[in-house]
Amino acid sequence: PRPLRVALLGCGVVGTQVARLLTHDAADLASRAGAPLELVGIAVRDVTAPRDAVIDRALLTDDAESLVDDADIVVEVMGGIEPARALLLRAIAAGAAVVTANKALLAEDGPTLYRAADSAGVDIYFEAAVAGAIPIVRPVRESLAGDDVRRVLGILNGTTNYVLDQMATTGASLEDALAEAQALGFAEADPTADVEGYDAAAKAAILASLAFHTRVSIADVAREGIRSVTAEDVAWAARTGYVIKLLAIADLREDGPGRAPSGVSVRVHPALVPLAHPLANVRGSFNAVFVEAAAAGELMFYGRGAGGAPTASAVLGDVVSAARHRVLGGKGPQESTYAALPILPTGAA
Ligand code: NDP
Ligand code: HSE
Repeated sequence: PRPLRVALLGCGVVGTQVARLLTHDAADLASRAGAPLELVGIAVRDVTAPRDAVIDRALLTDDAESLVDDADIVVEVMGGIEPARALLLRAIAAGAAVVTANKALLAEDGPTLYRAADSAGVDIYFEAAVAGAIPIVRPVRESLAGDDVRRVLGILNGTTNYVLDQMATTGASLEDALAEAQALGFAEADPTADVEGYDAAAKAAILASLAFHTRVSIADVAREGIRSVTAEDVAWAARTGYVIKLLAIADLREDGPGRAPSGVSVRVHPALVPLAHPLANVRGSFNAVFVEAAAAGELMFYGRGAGGAPTASAVLGDVVSAARHRVLGGKGPQESTYAALPILPTGAA
């Protein structure tokens, strides 16, 4: 089969690792995908900026539009709402499959992208948008599609988990621990998104939409970040047998046993977790997600929630899935059909 042309939008923490894996693992990826995956270009803001040595500088371009016009698969790891949204819509309109790690965009305007992909008959995959390396989007979107998910709960932001962990274990200040998380590549370009809970809220909105087959946007999520958590709070929690974690909780509300669901509630806030609870032992930039479903019961997912290589793993899995469809036919899940469950007012915890 002819090589599949892969366009990469973004060459930062995640994009660099995606490019590395596409290049170094090319033979394995070709055999898994059913066709060679040819990295045809990497769109960046500044083509002259220093890059990791793994990057072939000849592939760099600041003309993202031309790049997406001539690709089979477009991988968006640039972040932000625009131009990411316009570029993904352009790629879809040109018939390309798209893979994105952009939770901020999906939580703000995912349905526009899903509708466009469905009407063009192309794949849209976004495993890396929630919880880094942890396979959680595919299980909730596909494996649990035949079950009734009741609750999704967990730690969905690696930066704040790292910060809270450092505050508890080394006595670091929030500011110092955040600077470390930025240096390690866990934080968003604007780390306010992490600290104030917007990033976890975006991921909670994406998971809730998939879990409850409804439309939850970031504006529907009740949100409180960790900015007001002090060293005294962290120390007091430890003395009393708890640890402070930023939790994301999405659940289906029922008025009574056997009654139809009345709506969905989604919230993100710091919480006291007893030291004996499994979530208390989620350290550093790791994430963990619990899912409760009617037939499956309780499920737990755990792993690295942020960072270049872990996130690139999830991106590459999506690229292989999209490539297999290009080679063999078929398409990933539709997203544009959904039930219109009401979103309960914020604070309805
Ligand atoms: P970075 O800020 O490290 O990289 C962003 C890249 O996109 C840079 O190469 C930048 O170019 C390029 N870029 C940004 N805007 C434009 C533009 N307008 N035109 C062309 N290129 C542009 O971000 P990350 O790699 O950390 O994150 C990328 C995406 O992945 C985001 O959506 C993020 O939320 C998501 N994500 C990140 C994770 C992480 O752990 N870091 C984990 C999971 C998801 P230049 O280099 O020239 O500045
Ligand atoms: N900034 C995000 C985090 C990256 O810290 O979890 C992974 O989505």
